[in-house]
Amino acid sequence: MSAGNSGKNDLFEDSVSGFLAPVKEFLDDPTVSEVLINGPEEVFVERGGKLEKTSARFRDEQALQSAVRNIAQFVGRKVDDRNLILDGRLPNGSRVAAVLPPCSFKGTTLSIRKFGTKVPKFVDLINWGSISQDAARFLDVCIFLAKNMIISGGTGSGKTSLLNVLGSRIPKDQRLLIIEDAKELKITADHVVFFETRKADVDHPDLPEVSVRDLLKSALRLRPDRIVVGEVRGDEALDLVAAMNTGHGGSMGTTHANTPFDALVRLETLAMSGGTKIPEQAIRRQIISAIHVVVQIKRLDDGSRKVTHISEVHPELDGSGKYIVHDIYRFVQRGKTPEGKIIGELIPTGQLPSFMEEIEVNRMPFPKEKFTPPEWYLELQKKRMKDAA
Ligand SMILES: Nc1ncnc2c1ncn2[C@@H]1O[C@H](COP(=O)(O)OP(=O)(O)OP(=O)(O)O)[C@@H](O)[C@H]1O
Ligand SMILES: [Mg+2]
Repeated sequence: MSAGNSGKNDLFEDSVSGFLAPVKEFLDDPTVSEVLINGPEEVFVERGGKLEKTSARFRDEQALQSAVRNIAQFVGRKVDDRNLILDGRLPNGSRVAAVLPPCSFKGTTLSIRKFGTKVPKFVDLINWGSISQDAARFLDVCIFLAKNMIISGGTGSGKTSLLNVLGSRIPKDQRLLIIEDAKELKITADHVVFFETRKADVDHPDLPEVSVRDLLKSALRLRPDRIVVGEVRGDEALDLVAAMNTGHGGSMGTTHANTPFDALVRLETLAMSGGTKIPEQAIRRQIISAIHVVVQIKRLDDGSRKVTHISEVHPELDGSGKYIVHDIYRFVQRGKTPEGKIIGELIPTGQLPSFMEEIEVNRMPFPKEKFTPPEWYLELQKKRMKDAA
């Protein structure tokens, strides 16, 4: 970190101690991942994936708004009667979002998403039970073979964290361009360049906005080997898909969706949202040839975050023009502990990836047998078929 940055961080720490004093203990507590303030009288925190109500309170709405104004200053924005929404990243890397009254009913709503100082690696995800060792290795294979991947999941499911892990596995000799709305990713690579959008600034109305789409178009002229888009949530989906189809294999992005199939539908909707003249069926065809693998991550009801599907996108549409996805790995729940912890495994379904030959030709240490489902799963399938008959 540069001296300038750490100076800004110190200043922020000092001012946080004052304005955010009622929640400072949670901001300092490494077991808390998110602080959620719903007006001055209600503070929740997320710990171990679960929300807990706390007894913390702000003195009044004014004190809470002062804190938000102070944060806005560090983020380079302004909140006032005309600007009721704040979205940004703090000097310490935390992500903040706030909505002020009258748009927010209980008083100012503020959420602060903290990121651990340590960026997780595959080994951490394996130790936390978020992914199996074999599935992690399979994703490594996909990255090595430059498969284009989309990480799909609901809000706060762990998409960005997983993208950090996957992005950091990209072969070191490749030039990686990363485009984000607000910089969050901490991908470590030898040759990586980060880009961040520029939002409208009330103090500098003459400065034009720079969108993810603008950055993506420029990135293509900057000789990328691979492109990473932190979150695909607008019409840049069309440009990302085009980039993936034109020789930038191994590109990645995340999107909000609940299943791998829905992720493709979501990308299609986003791609169409810019008013493109390209017909729907043509966009679908571009999507299926661009995206090879969808990794689905979910926050389960016991608070854990788990990869629930690793699916391959079939490069053809079905008879009625719909997407076909094949699950190569799927999370199967087998029970619950008395404490409510979900017991289950991310297992191969028996479906071989269409690029099995590529895996073998490249002598990757991932033999066909790895895709054989465990015995218990085959028994379970047999039982289900018998019960259904
Ligand atoms: N595998 C995991 N196990 C436990 N906690 C995790 C895991 N992945 C992420 N987290 C934590 O969950 C929170 C949300 O993670 P992250 O920001 O990656 O989610 P997201 O899906 O990108 O969220 P959003 O939809 O808001 O962009 C963070 O506090 C992060 O530290
Ligand atoms: Mg995210």
